Amino acid sequence: MSSKSSSVCVYLLLLLLVSGTRTAVSHWVVKTLPGFPGELPFKLETGYISVGEVEFFYYFVESEGNPGADPLLLYINGGPGCSALNGLLYQIVIIIMLLQTANVLFLDAPVGAGFSYATISEAWSASDTIVAAQAYEFLRNWLIEHSNFMNNPVYLGSDSYQGVVTPILAQDIINGNEAGIEPQVNIKGLSLGCPHTNTDLEDNTRVIFAHRMALISDAMYKSAKTSCNGNYIDSTNANCTEAVASISQCIEQVNEADILGPNCAFISPKPKEGAQGFLNEYSRNFILPWSGNGDFWCKNFDYILFDIWINYKSVQDALHVRPGTVKEVFRCNITLTSEYSYNVKDAIPYHKNLTNSGLQILVFSGDHDMSVTHIAVEQWINSLDLTIDTEWRPWFVDGQVAGELDTLQQSTNARNVMTCSIDGFTTILSSSFLQLLLLEER
Ligand SMILES: *[C@@H]1O[C@H](CO)[C@@H](O)[C@H](O)[C@H]1NC(C)=O
Ligand SMILES: *[C@@H]1O[C@H](CO)[C@@H](O)[C@H](O)[C@H]1NC(C)=O
Ligand SMILES: *[C@@H]1O[C@H](CO)[C@@H](O)[C@H](O)[C@H]1NC(C)=O
Repeated sequence: MSSKSSSVCVYLLLLLLVSGTRTAVSHWVVKTLPGFPGELPFKLETGYISVGEVEFFYYFVESEGNPGADPLLLYINGGPGCSALNGLLYQIVIIIMLLQTANVLFLDAPVGAGFSYATISEAWSASDTIVAAQAYEFLRNWLIEHSNFMNNPVYLGSDSYQGVVTPILAQDIINGNEAGIEPQVNIKGLSLGCPHTNTDLEDNTRVIFAHRMALISDAMYKSAKTSCNGNYIDSTNANCTEAVASISQCIEQVNEADILGPNCAFISPKPKEGAQGFLNEYSRNFILPWSGNGDFWCKNFDYILFDIWINYKSVQDALHVRPGTVKEVFRCNITLTSEYSYNVKDAIPYHKNLTNSGLQILVFSGDHDMSVTHIAVEQWINSLDLTIDTEWRPWFVDGQVAGELDTLQQSTNARNVMTCSIDGFTTILSSSFLQLLLLEER
């Protein structure tokens, strides 16, 4: 442990000497964060990596196992436009703290998410293919600056919308490695949480999902099934449109991302906006005082806490954010979401290629998520025509059923694709960590 940290110090010193005249050091160790009592319980580094005219901000959490050999997981959030800190605080911090077997590199991408910014106006544009290409270059540049991680096995992780970009990124890396681009990236696999893959497929499964989850009646489902003939998004079929519209109306009040979760409609004039975590006058004046008694029953409250905490100067100073580069920061940047160019409508062709790549692929879905339904995920996995290695079965943790799991074998080699759906699950983490931070700061 001590020899490892001293070798890191020597390396940092060398880096300082070598790059001292070229650029200023662009990464820092963060030991404390405003609101958190004492030192952080993990080793955190933040920094910037330049990719063309974009300055990408990242958070790096080092493994407490064997950082020199443990996997390096590059994790990008969905949205598009949600900050890396969203993943760190709400999605996998508990896993990091419990398992401590991976180095995790959280990237603020696309540009405009979190603290990443462009230095010229043309560089603000982002699309699925641009983000994949930039993330690949980011990773290579990061490895050059952290050469002691150069040979670690690399995994790509993402959730939700980013599910469409991650296989493109994997393909870019494979193509780059084959073309001899340096440094070579030792890619081993991907982990996709509730991955957006194909909009039509996802939209088409929502009716089936609502029926399977008993959100709509058998009669309503049968009527839609007859009218739509399996195609629930056929806008040319008036009877189908009508049947689907009445289903939509029936489930309108259900929280799409978490069907058993509270909709929290009454705390916000526009529930959809509330879910985005807007820091607006309404939330400042109403939600915060109201939830000030510690009654954080609605997840949206935690998201608002995030938007407040991350805008404290003391927090940004502690994270070494470059002053003046980002005016106001949000958990998810909805301007980005609306300006983004959605240029890959279907990621299945990328997945087809990846099944022949020898990569390990883990796909997991929450079975209460109606936005990227587990049914859609199962459908595109089935379309890859893989051989089933172990059949669909319940998966238990300490005698409690926790989900369902199967393993599929790839066509040309013995690597596994694992799929699972997690019972009662939408996002992994409790948000007590962030609540603690904010309450301490106040
Ligand atoms: C649509 O519904 C109406 C009323 O039930 C029916 O008469 C008509 O045949 C349906 N159209 C098609 C194309 O099925
Ligand atoms: C959000 O992203 C856009 C780029 O799409 C950027 O111009 C903007 O500064 C970002 N931040 C906010 C708070 O809108
Ligand atoms: C899949 O691989 C083939 C053969 O290498 C290539 O021509 C094609 O462009 C790839 N598809 C995607 C979506 O990358």
